Amino acid sequence: MGDVLNLIQDGKLDIISLNELSKKPPIFEEGDRPIWTDDHISKGMLEAHLDADSDMASRKHERIANSCEWLVSRLDLIGSKVIDLGCGPGLYCEELVRHGVDMTGVDFSQRSIEYARSKNEGAINYVLGDYLSLDFDEKFDAALMIYYDFDVLSDIERKRLLDKLNSLLKKGGYFVFDVLTPRHDEAGIETTSWSTSTGGFWHPQDYMELVQRYYYPEEQVKLDQYIILDEFGEATLYRVWHRFFTLRKITNLLKKHGFIVEDFYQNFVGTPYQKESDSIGIIARKKSR
Ligand SMILES: C[S@@+](CC[C@H](N)C(=O)[O-])C[C@H]1O[C@@H](n2cnc3c(N)ncnc32)[C@H](O)[C@@H]1O
Repeated sequence: MGDVLNLIQDGKLDIISLNELSKKPPIFEEGDRPIWTDDHISKGMLEAHLDADSDMASRKHERIANSCEWLVSRLDLIGSKVIDLGCGPGLYCEELVRHGVDMTGVDFSQRSIEYARSKNEGAINYVLGDYLSLDFDEKFDAALMIYYDFDVLSDIERKRLLDKLNSLLKKGGYFVFDVLTPRHDEAGIETTSWSTSTGGFWHPQDYMELVQRYYYPEEQVKLDQYIILDEFGEATLYRVWHRFFTLRKITNLLKKHGFIVEDFYQNFVGTPYQKESDSIGIIARKKSR
């Protein structure tokens, strides 16, 4: 993560530095601060997770309930030990435990984990930490990573995740996750926009938000870059990377890491995948040998 820049120098706005800051960066270069664990941003993020009718941080709650019901039946999860990687405030954990699944949820957002723990009395094991580095003594029947979180990792992080899954899962254990495909309407597009706020999602006081979307066609990677400029000239850079996956690409990547794709859908309510689909819900299994 880089240092936060002050764009007011000797009473003047440093346009040259702003220009530098807004250039298209090398692929997967990080911003100044992480989004999910920031003390202020995590407040708005939790509100978004808990908004039953919003798709911003989590899917609409009715859709989550339908997905959980479908997954329990498709994977025969009753009585299984399941870990939800990036569980947020526990929307999937809560639903799945109601269906008789033994749930562990992991997230590095303290705000989300505290909320999740406050919602249940020990029926779910919530762990605060980074799923790329946490170790567990027990092995799981299935790991979930739902809402395109697999896509937002850098390639190095994705390899670490797949290695971690190998140690977390029992032989034959499921890895259930979704990806966006290059058919998605945000692939291939570059945009720039700005807006102002008197305090909101990114910052508690007045700020200006400069948003850029960059696309890297060869790698099929998108960057959403946010420069948040406060009234004192401090500019904080946030970056959200996203790699789009074809079915073939994801199948090959999983194979390299000891997983096979057992089945794939357009989503986790069982809609069949078609060539034109902009997302894939994947049911992979750790190889038994
Ligand atoms: C898009 S949200 C999805 C949350 C949840 N799966 C849902 O759909 O309701 C991504 C979640 O992953 C968490 N997260 C991202 N990277 C993480 C990491 N390396 N370790 C633990 N949690 C992570 C974030 O804090 C956030 O709660």
